[in-house]
Amino acid sequence: MAASATPILHKPLGLLAELTHRCPLGCPYCSNPLALDPREGELDTATWARVFGEAAALGVLQVHLSGGEPGARRDLVDITASAHAAGLYSNLITSAVGITEKTLGALAAAGLDHVQISIQDSEQRSADRIAGYDGAFARKRALAAEVVRLGLPLTVNAVMHRANIERIGEMVDLAIALDASRVEIAHVQYYGWAIKNRATLMPTREQVERAAALVEELRARHHGRIVIDAVVPDYYARYPKPCVGGWGRRSLNVTPAGKVLPCHAAESIPGLEFWNVREHSLAEIWAHSPAFNAFRGTSWMKEPCVSCPRREQDFGGCRCQAFALTGDAAAADPVCHLSPEHGRVAALAAVREDAPYEYRRM
Ligand code: SF4
Ligand code: FES
Repeated sequence: MAASATPILHKPLGLLAELTHRCPLGCPYCSNPLALDPREGELDTATWARVFGEAAALGVLQVHLSGGEPGARRDLVDITASAHAAGLYSNLITSAVGITEKTLGALAAAGLDHVQISIQDSEQRSADRIAGYDGAFARKRALAAEVVRLGLPLTVNAVMHRANIERIGEMVDLAIALDASRVEIAHVQYYGWAIKNRATLMPTREQVERAAALVEELRARHHGRIVIDAVVPDYYARYPKPCVGGWGRRSLNVTPAGKVLPCHAAESIPGLEFWNVREHSLAEIWAHSPAFNAFRGTSWMKEPCVSCPRREQDFGGCRCQAFALTGDAAAADPVCHLSPEHGRVAALAAVREDAPYEYRRM
């Protein structure tokens, strides 16, 4: 079957608002770009409020208030209030370091709907070492308790890699003890900072297989108590993930400086032209920005994707990963076993080294 020439313009459902790249933590797998936006260039409160209004008019239902650490913004309560006023469901994605109990109370009063706290490990020493911040673990536990006390739903986000993958069971126990309604077992995705630390972070195939079996067991054991979300890590999968639900299809990402990206790592692909909310409305950007149209639909695809029955399911996988591993952003994601470049993934997964982390710092 031929790929369709004119992509359908779907409505975006989610907006990732990267309010700032500032963050007290230094996680070695941070999803922010290597070139971080400085504080002076960040969008102001009124511009975020306009963006949220435009997003709601475009069909967006949910805004993820993210960073860096969103708590580094002094106007976080006003920003949250403007998301609420626009009618968006707001999810605060936080390291919990930099948000006081008082601020959390003000956020709840401003209409915040949900909180997601990242926890680096179930053991304090290891968690603080991975975060690159002494005392982070204790502060996360304390803020999680406050989230629950305020009646806000809590998700624990646990990014797994070689140093903590053997403690998935303990991470789920911790999330239950914190009264979280959901825990995301999210394996490291290798972009930006994580590529720098890939050999140190990479788990073994045996670890990944044990982890997958354990997650199934934990889901059965804790059914009805906590929702456990987990996916197979990219480098050990047979098929790629439908990254961001398909490029320019369901979500958009606004950087601290106002650039609108189809995904958080899109700036790693050279030659894409991103438009900025300072110069264009979100609706113009969604429909006409060259970056959004570069890989929308299926007409840009090559073999093996172009004739593959899964092309509308996984959209050829991740464009950023295709570029990072093959140098061609229009290639099939080499995580796919049908990709002629699939051997590169296994070769990279086999490179493991116990080097010190290169922490993410501004
Ligand atoms: Fe997906 Fe392309 Fe692989 Fe088919 S060939 S499964 S569309 S990545
Ligand atoms: Fe950019 Fe997957 S992270 S398309």
